[in-house]
Amino acid sequence: MIIYKSEAEIEMMRKSSQIVARILSELREMIRPGLETRELDSYAEDRARQLGAVPAFKGYRGYPASLCVSVNEEIVHGIPSSRRLQEGDIVSLDFGVIYEGFYGDAALTVPVGQVSNLARKLIEVAERAFYRGLEELKIGNRLSDVSAAIQQEVEGAGFSVIRAFVGHGIGRNLHEEPQLPNFGLPGHGPRLKKGLTLAIEPMIAAGHWEVEVLNDGWTAVTRDRSLSAHYEHTVALTDRGVEILSLDSRVEGHGTGRSANA
Ligand code: MF3
Ligand code: CO
Repeated sequence: MIIYKSEAEIEMMRKSSQIVARILSELREMIRPGLETRELDSYAEDRARQLGAVPAFKGYRGYPASLCVSVNEEIVHGIPSSRRLQEGDIVSLDFGVIYEGFYGDAALTVPVGQVSNLARKLIEVAERAFYRGLEELKIGNRLSDVSAAIQQEVEGAGFSVIRAFVGHGIGRNLHEEPQLPNFGLPGHGPRLKKGLTLAIEPMIAAGHWEVEVLNDGWTAVTRDRSLSAHYEHTVALTDRGVEILSLDSRVEGHGTGRSANA
């Protein structure tokens, strides 16, 4: 069952998502060669608590940290450690919080110093695929229209879409219905209605989409060890159009994240 949100509930989710946005912007500024990935985790956790929020991932199904840090061929759920970032790496940061009962969830992929052209393009395509999917998030469209648009953007750029992980509904729970695959044929699934709140999160690979989970039980990597990138926002569909709740309204210069394409 999909839980559609009222304007008041969306306002709550705007708050939790803005905390996530702000912390991700701060983490992005910290990225440099030599930084240990666990330094990012402890910063994110402390900052969330300072802002009155609770990190959402710590303890979720036994996940041991507050932040997911996935480097290079790691797709998602990388566990922060004493590993040091190196020039040329790409690093995905995935973070979520609970604030006054509502979740916010977002992710981005950041280059460490100078990276290859391939790495740069992969990061760009993950972000572009998110925005292409968002264009289809309109009242009256069907959910898989979003999936199909993301897949087309990614494959059109010569990359592949990870199949094993999906976007999701979000609200008083981190994962609600519906699931949102980043691939599929258009014209299927529920019709999009106002009050829908989703975490849209393309995860893509430079090579094949097959996934392997490392022995830590969490870190998902591409089986062919090709580079992977991830881009995610919590979004809401209202009768004013779609709003990116987790876009950092203080720094990204995209205004409030509101648009009017419904
Ligand atoms: N953004 C991810 C998701 O939506 C993060 C979950 S990591 C976990 O599933 F550790 F909490 F599982
Ligand atoms: Co998510």
